[in-house]
Amino acid sequence: MATLKAVRGTRDLLPPETELWNRIETTARAVFARYNFGEIRTPIFEDTGLFARGVGEETDIVSKEMFTWEDGERFDQGTFVRSWLEEVKAEGRFVGGSGGQFSEVLRESGVYWVGRPITGQPEFVTFGEEVTSRAIQSLLAAKTFGLSPTVIQRYPQEADYLRRNGVNLRLVVPSGKAAATSYIETSGVEIEQFQSKVPVFKSKQSLTLRPENTAGVVRAYIENKLGETGQLQKLYYIGPQFRRERPQKGRYRQFWQIGAEVIGPPFAGSESPLRDAEVLEMLATLLDEMGITGWTLELNSVGSAADRARYNETLRAALEPVVGKMCTDCQRRAVTNPLRVLDCKVPEDQPIIATLPVIADSLDEESKNHFAAVKAALDAAGVVYTLNPRLVRGLDYYTRTTFEFTHGGLGAQNAILGGGRYDGLSEAIGGPKAPGIGFAMGLDRLVLTLQAQEAAQPAAMPAKKLDAYIAPLGEDVNAAALALARELRRGGLSVELGDGSFRLKKSFEAADRVARKIVIMGEDELASGILTVKDFATGTQSKVPRAELRDFLKN
Ligand code: HAM
Repeated sequence: MATLKAVRGTRDLLPPETELWNRIETTARAVFARYNFGEIRTPIFEDTGLFARGVGEETDIVSKEMFTWEDGERFDQGTFVRSWLEEVKAEGRFVGGSGGQFSEVLRESGVYWVGRPITGQPEFVTFGEEVTSRAIQSLLAAKTFGLSPTVIQRYPQEADYLRRNGVNLRLVVPSGKAAATSYIETSGVEIEQFQSKVPVFKSKQSLTLRPENTAGVVRAYIENKLGETGQLQKLYYIGPQFRRERPQKGRYRQFWQIGAEVIGPPFAGSESPLRDAEVLEMLATLLDEMGITGWTLELNSVGSAADRARYNETLRAALEPVVGKMCTDCQRRAVTNPLRVLDCKVPEDQPIIATLPVIADSLDEESKNHFAAVKAALDAAGVVYTLNPRLVRGLDYYTRTTFEFTHGGLGAQNAILGGGRYDGLSEAIGGPKAPGIGFAMGLDRLVLTLQAQEAAQPAAMPAKKLDAYIAPLGEDVNAAALALARELRRGGLSVELGDGSFRLKKSFEAADRVARKIVIMGEDELASGILTVKDFATGTQSKVPRAELRDFLKN
């Protein structure tokens, strides 16, 4: 059999690498707490419309990279059956119900005996979303069963009734769902199309695995009425995101982000340039505390919605004479959303893109002042940045401040994080005015960066060893060894438990790989309560009373 593998662009994260992941996450949580951020966890999939409206239809993320599926129309059979039974009862088509054990047996296989009509045949009825051979088979099987020796013996009255009157077979489906096949015509099953008074189909919904989390956080802000608290919401998240990108080093289809958003009504100060500077200062601290060195903060302002509209017009005009020489994506973007031309990665288009006007020239006074205030606060806090007038970011919701932190050690995928302000996002997805700013860092890329750094300075991170390895001498002491391990682990020590079937040499080898000390536990040790401990670093062997063992191993 072909072996099953992790899907392209996804991967398993294994120990000891996961230790590094956890260390980064722990550092992030600690820094977020110091800056008064609380954790938010939103669903991993959302209505597709959220991303289409929030991130933007023309972005690469939405137009090419989302994992989207139709959550199919669902048939509510229970409602359909109840609705049909009510109607036929009201019409007096049947009287009573057989109610006996026999009909309960049928019910289990999805077939109803609708009772004895005043005249004519009794009926076996089944209900389906549409006409299927399976539904017809179950009716035919029910008929066979109804006339079988088992039924004659166990339910003589019912069987007699069926034998005398015969049985009609009926398949009820919602109107418009019948499919007349020759099989149905020859099976003797009557198909009834029934129009229920209550809806029996729950409508389809397009769902998408989240490609990013800002839209989800803003949706949650609106849905949970967080704006009504009047407080600035400072929320962080850690979790997987999904984009169908071409996998390469640092770029995966399931990747992880650590992100944060500051959002609230304008009167809570959410529009203030101080918030932008504070987020950027926090990021500088966060990266420093994670041990990431040599990063660059690239900064730009993409202006207000009005500035961007103006810039889009300027770009459209500038593109007109040259767009014919560009890729087909750019030709489309030049019409629908010229700003997205700046995302183009096609090498031949880059010289043309370099000549296009920059957004800084389209900013109005207010946007310029806002950006100046962000820069002044960064200067005051000593956070170093580089201005990059081409940094427009690949998501449509950005307004004003945009930024990326890049790292030279990452190769082509050099952005360790990106973010910016999104003053109109809440309104774009139907919420109140709620300006915000945030960022997301690629956890996979942070790990790659730290691994590269650690490879360059291996001494910086010695492998962490367990406090002890317990080696039972013989399987008879396995149970007692487990009790000792429990005692030590509950006492806060990290302990690995060997197995009594191992020879002593094997236990020593296994212990030396993972632990600082080995504790030998044989029948003698168990009886005397004095354990033999060997310290691998010093080579010394000691006899330690059980009551002192925890403290001894700790040192
Ligand atoms: P983004 O620039 O699309 O922004 O992603 C942020 C970071 O996620 C990137 O800088 C990168 O480190 C990482 N990343 C993105 N795609 C991949 C991938 N395929 N594989 C590995 N890492 C990846 C956003 O997602 C915005 N929501 C950020 C934001 C928050 N803006 C405001 N608030």
